[in-house]
Amino acid sequence: MLNRAGNVIRLLVILSIVLATGLQAETIDEKVESLLSRMTLEEKVGQMNQVAIQVVSKTQGTTEQDHELDLDKLRKAIVEYHVGSILNVWDKAHTIEHWHEVITAIQDVAVNETRLGIPVIYGIDAIHGANYTVGATLFPQSINMAATWNRELVRREGEITALEMRASGIPWNFNPVLGLGRHPAWPRFWETYGESEYLASEMGAIYIAAQQGDDPSAPDKVGTCAKHYLGYSFPLSGKDRTPAWIPGRMLRELFVPPFQAAIDAGALTVMVNSSEINGIPVHSSDYYLTELLREEMGFEGMIVSDWNDIKNLHTREKVAPTQKEAVRMAVMAGVDMSMVPLDFSFYAHLLELVKEGSVPESRIDDAVRKILKFNFQVGLDKHPYPNKELVKQFASEESRRVNQQAARESLVLLKNEGILPLSPDKTVCVAGPTANSLSSLNGGWTTTWQGNEESLYPNGKQTILEAVQNKVGKENILYSRGVDFEKEIDIADAVKKAKKADVAIVAIGEPAYCETPGNIDDLTMTQPQLELVEAISAVDIPIVLVLAEGRPRLITSIAEKTAAIVFAGLPGLEGGPAVADLIFGEFNPSGKLPFTYPRYPNDLMTYDYKLSEVSDINAYDPLFPFGHGLSYTEYEYTNLTLNKEVIGKDDELLVQVTVKNIGQRAGKEPVLLYLTDQFASVTPSVHKLRGVTKVPLEPNQSTNVEFRLTATDLSFVGRDNVRIVEPGEFTVHVGPLSQNFTLLAKDTFSLQ
Ligand code: BGC
Repeated sequence: MLNRAGNVIRLLVILSIVLATGLQAETIDEKVESLLSRMTLEEKVGQMNQVAIQVVSKTQGTTEQDHELDLDKLRKAIVEYHVGSILNVWDKAHTIEHWHEVITAIQDVAVNETRLGIPVIYGIDAIHGANYTVGATLFPQSINMAATWNRELVRREGEITALEMRASGIPWNFNPVLGLGRHPAWPRFWETYGESEYLASEMGAIYIAAQQGDDPSAPDKVGTCAKHYLGYSFPLSGKDRTPAWIPGRMLRELFVPPFQAAIDAGALTVMVNSSEINGIPVHSSDYYLTELLREEMGFEGMIVSDWNDIKNLHTREKVAPTQKEAVRMAVMAGVDMSMVPLDFSFYAHLLELVKEGSVPESRIDDAVRKILKFNFQVGLDKHPYPNKELVKQFASEESRRVNQQAARESLVLLKNEGILPLSPDKTVCVAGPTANSLSSLNGGWTTTWQGNEESLYPNGKQTILEAVQNKVGKENILYSRGVDFEKEIDIADAVKKAKKADVAIVAIGEPAYCETPGNIDDLTMTQPQLELVEAISAVDIPIVLVLAEGRPRLITSIAEKTAAIVFAGLPGLEGGPAVADLIFGEFNPSGKLPFTYPRYPNDLMTYDYKLSEVSDINAYDPLFPFGHGLSYTEYEYTNLTLNKEVIGKDDELLVQVTVKNIGQRAGKEPVLLYLTDQFASVTPSVHKLRGVTKVPLEPNQSTNVEFRLTATDLSFVGRDNVRIVEPGEFTVHVGPLSQNFTLLAKDTFSLQ
């Protein structure tokens, strides 16, 4: 009896194990393999094809008309050409409702009208918030986010942007930009986190983790795209998409680390540099895309090309004698998905190439495997359609508050001769072309690609002028634009108004731009704007200069003539009030420059220069150095201590410093740690940024800030292009303090 019961129980246990195993969800890899095995060559090649929304549209969205999809074209793209992905807007941001219509129509065709029902992966550039959805929370651009030195704000930006994208039905973000802002003329400077690879790595990794979460298929997460791999941000000419000349050692020292950090943070996709490094277009380079990125850096996700760049291998770079050869080159180099956005030529060429044996089908399988995996990772198999529930959280008041805080902390007070904060009982002359503009505060990727369609900006968001008017009363403001960016309007009028005022707020800078249209021949601030400041400076009132710009335009000739200078950069939709609140002391500024603000056009040294770059007659003498930023209070640094004077190669060095607010106002201080390698086999930089912690401090409050350094922080790329650590003496610098320590190791050792 007992025995029989025991057998029954045993049987039940076995049955439940079998059932549980059988019912266990297939892994993503299993699902991918099973789907791949059922796909025709045409379906596979189609997956690798990404087209822009205009290919499937009837009408373009303009200021006068709305965008409309074309269902016939959509069917052609999805059913006939099997496209795996669609991108972008044409040309203006959609309302959230229109996004729902667009994504629903696309997925209806993909899911219901194709043989295998694979949902289409929609991708956009949500560069500073979900900037292609009307009414989204639009954050400061990345250069400003870097200026906050506040990881938490970058994390919140990543989360809120992911949520607002998903609320719009979009699972894939072509962001973050992980090039370094080391060439101030480059028109995408503001899309970077500045000149330090340490800061860019930190901010990029946090943004990626925030957007993807532990599970990028979660309802409020998206897949990210680390771009533009590699070296794109450092063109010799400073113009967009022009050649970079970067020695291999420098590439690894500076430009690889942010991408490595992105990979380590789990970035699911990578976009390729549109241009070339040392004469090799990156889209055609097996070395950069496969050897370095995949084999060495360990990237396992999907590689997408940039806009039209496979075609450009033939038409612009001239490394491929035909379009078909361009496709072969790019695919064999390692591109998985082709952003040849305006036609289906990639599809046709690639099919032919596989059929004639020039591209092995195994390479196609490899690419499609990665694309399908991404599709599943962002959960399109489970929820291909927009999740309308999320709309409730779109552009919430809480998100606006985070954005307001980000905008405030992103401003950098560069100069203050005791005039700021202004008291609100003054008559103020406001002048300059960026004073009454939202587009100059937001820059590119704002409702349109160029971001310069002022009429498409949301009502109810304040410009600097409007915010100042709100602060001191419209009747106390005398406004005169004075000049445009490129021409005079009426400088005399601005001077007349300045004469009746106690103080002038002059807001100059740049119009909104993006990519190649933002190329410049001269980094100097445009002449009419300099003339405006000159003219107002002849009036006997102090000038508060506000710089709303995407890169550090040279202002050396006027800087001395101002009483205060605020770098507003591109602070986003809450930027107007943030600037006014800084000027009138509603909050205490805490931003610091994440780049060097040059003084001269030919002196473009970065903070991590070599000792050989300075001498008795030249110095690191920018107008404002990297890390510079004033506050309305003062901080005192004391007690810099290291827990050891000598460390071994596996040790951690604990660095501690006391920071005290010795002024009258509460504030936040980014505490920056630099490291100097005293002697090295490759000429060391005078110092490298290796740590930052931003601390809030009430007046009289002090805090102990800790940093932990390991061998990685002491490493550099050696003569053999391998990252190494050499024993020897190092110096830690925090604020005005420094301490030495020694790394005692038998030999130099490699970190790879
Ligand atoms: C830009 C990319 C962007 C792509 C899609 C290109 O012109 O270089 O950064 O992701 O367009 O909009």
